[in-house]
Amino acid sequence: TSNQMWGGRFAAGPDAIMEAINASIGFDQRMAAQDIAGSRAHAAMLAKAGIISDSDAEAIRKGLLTVLSEIEAGTFEFSTALEDIHMNVEARLKDIIGEPAGRLHTGRSRNDQVATDFRLWVRDQLDAAETGLLALIRALLAQAEAGAGWVMPGFTHLQTAQPVTWGHHMMAYVEMFGRDLSRVRDARARMNESPLGAAALAGTGFPIDRDMTAADLGFDRPMANSLDAVSARDFALEFLNVASISAMHLSRFAEELVIWSSAQFRFVTLSDRFSTGSSIMPQKKNPDAAELIRAKIGRIFGANVALMMVMKGLPLAYSKDMQEDKEQVFDAADNWMLALAAMEGMVRDMQANVPALEAAASAGFSTATDLADWLVRETGLPFRDAHHVTGALVAMAEQKGCDLPDLSLEDMKSVSDSITDGVYDVLGVHKSVASRMSYGGTAPEQVRAQVARWNEVLG
Ligand code: ARG
Repeated sequence: TSNQMWGGRFAAGPDAIMEAINASIGFDQRMAAQDIAGSRAHAAMLAKAGIISDSDAEAIRKGLLTVLSEIEAGTFEFSTALEDIHMNVEARLKDIIGEPAGRLHTGRSRNDQVATDFRLWVRDQLDAAETGLLALIRALLAQAEAGAGWVMPGFTHLQTAQPVTWGHHMMAYVEMFGRDLSRVRDARARMNESPLGAAALAGTGFPIDRDMTAADLGFDRPMANSLDAVSARDFALEFLNVASISAMHLSRFAEELVIWSSAQFRFVTLSDRFSTGSSIMPQKKNPDAAELIRAKIGRIFGANVALMMVMKGLPLAYSKDMQEDKEQVFDAADNWMLALAAMEGMVRDMQANVPALEAAASAGFSTATDLADWLVRETGLPFRDAHHVTGALVAMAEQKGCDLPDLSLEDMKSVSDSITDGVYDVLGVHKSVASRMSYGGTAPEQVRAQVARWNEVLG
């Protein structure tokens, strides 16, 4: 038998394979609440505009609430033959209320319907991402506050570079996740326009009120062009762009946690709650959550690329290709939210190993730059010459198997006669970080100022 929604011109029903490739109900049922919200707004507007009767609108409203409660209770029977969430809901509405259900689709198409549902769904996810990012930022701020003065090695090329503070390192991620947050808000503001009422592509001859449905659904305004309204998926792509960048930040931090929690580094201890064991090696405690967060960027960025490829060749307006937008976004959203929550939990729980951090900070001649700077300040040597002298002292310490502060004054003078014992004042790691007082620098005082600024922003 032919389709009850569009089968008027069809003599035969679809092949089973056609049904399988065509149906989206297996995944778009996740937009049931959004679909019903959109239909409620549309029906109320149709009645207000005098396009359907108030009693029909009331029957539709009540019937849709029944459908929603059936879906929420898990008693709703989704049908593949009915293709997608839109037709499943409408068919069930017809079972419940009969004839008025057939008036709901007046002045509307599945094309503006799906665009509306999906925008509402993505908007919810942007709100969830905002919540997740804020929670993670707060967890990082707590770590930064506790460890504003703990010294650790700062790296370039993963080689010890200069001492930094734990709090400074945490605050670097606060800045990154803070930019993710601002991207989330930008994307939300840009996407918050209503496609509803664009109908199939050209608008409609019915005297609909698009401002009313837009306001009802919490959109700032109706989209200005009906062709664009049903064709645009850049809101979904922007969501995936933002998610990809944020997942990249999560992944870099996850990589650091994997390194830091290793026996070779011992910078942090991850909590049992966010670690796993090995079924063969009894001693193992693995940073699986961090590793999985590190891996999530792959599927999220994959979704971003996949949807770009789906969209790039589509002529206006709607093509069925666009049905492929949802699974990518659903998967990316699920995994982004999970990664944010897991990272927040790990950061809250993790224990910095302060003595190990400090020992590592002192190794690898990390205060060589302080020595060179001291030579410039105290002896008037040009920086390039001071760099050279310091390099010779590093070579000497390396040869003796000691650190820079362990070189005797005699040893130092043998390289540069102008060195005095005042040099030892700048060679300790705590002195080194305390001196980095430039705005945004690693000095504990600067870190505390960064934390205070963020606390003020977050309120
Ligand atoms: N399930 C479809 C989708 O997700 C709904 C829109 C169908 N529109 C159409 N003209 N066939 O894109």
